[in-house]
Amino acid sequence: MLAALREGFALSKPALSAFSISKKFADVQAVSKVDLSLAQGKCFALLGRNGAGKTTICEMLVGVIAPDCGEIEILGQPFHATVPNKRDLLENIGVLSQETRLYQKFTVGETLSLFASFYAASLDVATVLELMALTAKRNKRLEQLSGGERQRAYLGAALVGDPDLLFLDEPTTGLDPLSRKNVWEIIEDLKQRGRSIFLTTHHMEEAARLADEIAIIERGEIVAQGGPRQLIQRYCEEDVISVQLDQPLPASDLESLQHSFPPARELAAQSYELKTSETFKAIKYLIALCDRLGIIIQSMEFRKSTLEDVFFQLTGKKLP
Ligand SMILES: Nc1ncnc2c1ncn2[C@@H]1O[C@H](COP(=O)(O)OP(=O)(O)O)[C@@H](O)[C@H]1O
Ligand SMILES: [Mg+2]
Repeated sequence: MLAALREGFALSKPALSAFSISKKFADVQAVSKVDLSLAQGKCFALLGRNGAGKTTICEMLVGVIAPDCGEIEILGQPFHATVPNKRDLLENIGVLSQETRLYQKFTVGETLSLFASFYAASLDVATVLELMALTAKRNKRLEQLSGGERQRAYLGAALVGDPDLLFLDEPTTGLDPLSRKNVWEIIEDLKQRGRSIFLTTHHMEEAARLADEIAIIERGEIVAQGGPRQLIQRYCEEDVISVQLDQPLPASDLESLQHSFPPARELAAQSYELKTSETFKAIKYLIALCDRLGIIIQSMEFRKSTLEDVFFQLTGKKLP
């Protein structure tokens, strides 16, 4: 089926594209004119806080809800509720929705067999169990699994149809760090097998680790988009210096510090954060300033900017 669907498509066609899709719920503009494109074999992460519009976008992309306007293409083919080849296109898609609640009395094996039956061509259940490290849990009911195992079972259900394009809506939210890492490894493995992955997350490290392309979403709008390094270079080229003093800086000195190295940010009463591309000049300045004022520097460190700094710069908010 996949081969048939792919015939006639150049491999350079994006796995998924959206053109100016929007969605309003009553008086909430959940998504506004979002454009996005996922290249085949790559991972695209939609990064944003709760309520930013990630699930709404995901649901529009997989055809669960219709956009108010805009267009969606899968493998270069228009995709909406009434396209005649919808069945073929769906064969090509796997979805892990954010609120997945499968039948808890089914065993892992029964769940995967059921999902396999939805597809004309599917993977062998044993293969998926192995990929998900669930072979030993095949006969356990979903209700008997740990949170991490259950999420891997749901992920297995999303990919037992051997889809080319996977939608994963917050696949690791609520998981402990080890289970989260397990899921990341599975996603990396899928990428290596050439699958295209559309991922939503509010987890910075997840986006930085897995995504080739990240779109930062805030209040339904994409505020920045690019590769993880590209985003840092574009928005936060500077180093971040954090300094903890034994007392607050006097207002006039804080003002001149901010003037010399904008934007200096007061984190707590006597700890400050500076962003600068002149790191050593700023360190010398701070040492001289504190010497002159008789203020003791309790700690000082500097680091390269991260995606978290980009997110804060663009939205003025921190991710959880
Ligand atoms: N079915 C709905 N009816 C009304 N408002 C909704 C509905 N679904 C989502 N919203 C609103 O749309 C906005 C985006 O929600 P959502 O897409 O779930 O965000 P996220 O997945 O990023 O947390 C939120 O303000 C949410 O309350
Ligand atoms: Mg959501």
